[in-house]
Amino acid sequence: MSSIAPQPADAAPPWRHVLGADLAAHAQDPAAMFVQVASLDAEHRPSVRSMSFRRFGPNGELVFVTDTRSAKVAALNADGWGEACWYFPDARVQWRLAGQVAVHGGAAPADWSALRASLWRAGSDEARRRFQWPAPGQLRAPAAAFVTAPPPLVPPAHFALFVLAAQRVERLCLRSSPHARRSWAQAGTSWAVTDVNP
Ligand SMILES: Cc1cc2nc3c(=O)[nH]c(=O)nc-3n(C[C@H](O)[C@H](O)[C@H](O)COP(=O)(O)O)c2cc1C
Repeated sequence: MSSIAPQPADAAPPWRHVLGADLAAHAQDPAAMFVQVASLDAEHRPSVRSMSFRRFGPNGELVFVTDTRSAKVAALNADGWGEACWYFPDARVQWRLAGQVAVHGGAAPADWSALRASLWRAGSDEARRRFQWPAPGQLRAPAAAFVTAPPPLVPPAHFALFVLAAQRVERLCLRSSPHARRSWAQAGTSWAVTDVNP
């Protein structure tokens, strides 16, 4: 199967409801929110880490939160590319979503700053206090540096949204034989959907 599905520019992409349904089926499983996210490091080598998926952005972007002082943010350049990989073991489904990453910290544009503020408020007290810890990845600081005050109401500048706008998406399901593998590729404001060999 291969087809082009024209989409209005501001519509959710066609794979969004499919991933949304897979996530909804795992709503009771907190581990289903953990995603492996790859990017290039400062030496242009692949670097991958676990991140907690927070929600979809208005155009189907994957929204995470992070610390702008971390290595993954420092290494991102203007056209920083990232790829997220999810696996739902019980359903035997893998998702891969690749595209541009944007980081919105203290100077977040207006259309992201409300979401940034609301994700800060939604965080637990403990999670917000972690943003008072010394910069991640640096030489271990003395214990006293990890003693934190109650978190502020407004997020510190280094609390940031890490937004992956996928341009290439793929779902692989191992349940059937042969396996089912479908890919979506963005072409301007349209998406081409193609079934490919597993
Ligand atoms: C289950 C789990 C969830 C995590 N969630 C996040 C997250 O949402 N955001 C984040 O920046 N780091 C998260 N981390 C920490 C990262 O995996 C990583 O250690 C940290 O961000 C530093 O990565 P970097 O050096 O590549 O920047 C999580 C780690 C684990 C084990």
